[in-house]
Amino acid sequence: MLDGRRILLIISGGIAAYKSLELIRRLQDRGAAVRCVLTKGGAQFVTPLAVAALSGDKVYQELFSLTDEAEMGHIRLSREADLVVVAPATANIIAKMAAGIADDLASTALLATDKPVLIAPAMNTMMWLHAATQANLATLAARGILRIGPGAGDLACGEVGAGRMAEPMEILERIEALLGGGGPLTGRRAIVTSGPTHEAIDPVRYIANRSSGRQGHAIAAALARLGAEVTLVSGPVVLADPPGLQVVKVESAAQMLDAVQAALPAEILVCAAAVADWGVANRATEKRKKQAGAPPPTIELVPNPDILATLSQPGPARPRLVVGFAAETENLLDNAAAKLARKGCDWIVANDVSEGSGTFGGEANTVHVVTPGGIDSWPRMGKDEVADRLADRIASTFEGPLS
Ligand code: C5P
Repeated sequence: MLDGRRILLIISGGIAAYKSLELIRRLQDRGAAVRCVLTKGGAQFVTPLAVAALSGDKVYQELFSLTDEAEMGHIRLSREADLVVVAPATANIIAKMAAGIADDLASTALLATDKPVLIAPAMNTMMWLHAATQANLATLAARGILRIGPGAGDLACGEVGAGRMAEPMEILERIEALLGGGGPLTGRRAIVTSGPTHEAIDPVRYIANRSSGRQGHAIAAALARLGAEVTLVSGPVVLADPPGLQVVKVESAAQMLDAVQAALPAEILVCAAAVADWGVANRATEKRKKQAGAPPPTIELVPNPDILATLSQPGPARPRLVVGFAAETENLLDNAAAKLARKGCDWIVANDVSEGSGTFGGEANTVHVVTPGGIDSWPRMGKDEVADRLADRIASTFEGPLS
């Protein structure tokens, strides 16, 4: 997806620099050429040798090194890239960028570049929250500097909070979303539903299921990588929003249907969400109270709207390709084929979610793509790989007749 794209990766001095080594690998896996600049601070955390070995190029470190300038001046270095990525971006380099300071190769290249710049900040929470850093970030945002993260969590300094650099895969996906245009789905709109729904019993309790949203989120990201303009309608999940697409967050099935309808028109709809089949009819507006001696309350259920079946109805608003999922614990393929007919969708992706399959909440999936033309069974693979294959297959249907 990044074939032939050139990334200038600036590694500044934070412990998260070790993650940038993985980022180099991932970028190369996708076909990008990566050239690296290592600041003095960066070289305290990763060695120039490691960066050079991984990038397959020399590491640029010195502004006034004669060899560097002779081979590749800082101006050329900063312009001969499609994108400049600063990962990790320390509070110091962010401050220098905001102030326009050019006192080393990294900051000079950042001042000289005419290319888009993406920063992945990483620092201690107090440094992140400091008014100076926040003001610098606002300055950079106003200038169109792109940012990913930081996330919150355990920091290397032992504190907990905001400041953790985005994961290499997240940075990669953002880069792909920025540079990966021109894919086979460019100009096509897609809607993907993902995650569970929560059906409220009262203001504090709800009915839910074990869906993590991993598969649906991965599909949304994969479609975006192929150039589609994607709206991800997500139930409550703990996953980060995939970069480069629009995310609409909902709780209940009814809200999910509304959000999908609001996102129309689209040519592709993938319903990967594990939508609750029933909502609560007697939802209480106040928290239900335990009362000594009183019988436990009864929860009455009502059928939820079926988003997949509703959107599969023939009509002008029907997406050209509607893909549903069938999570089954028995008779997987028979149930999937029956579901294809019952729901009126074009394909069903059937997956086994029986106990021990590890599908719900897990990293891998074994799927069978059921279409009117037959069944395509894929070997067990990671959910990201399932997503990429499905997105490729979707892309290929737009080149020829629907299969
Ligand atoms: O009927 P069942 O829940 O097994 O169907 C699964 C498929 O239907 C999935 O694609 C799911 O996203 C979709 N679905 C839906 N709305 C519902 C129930 C299921 O879109 N209320």
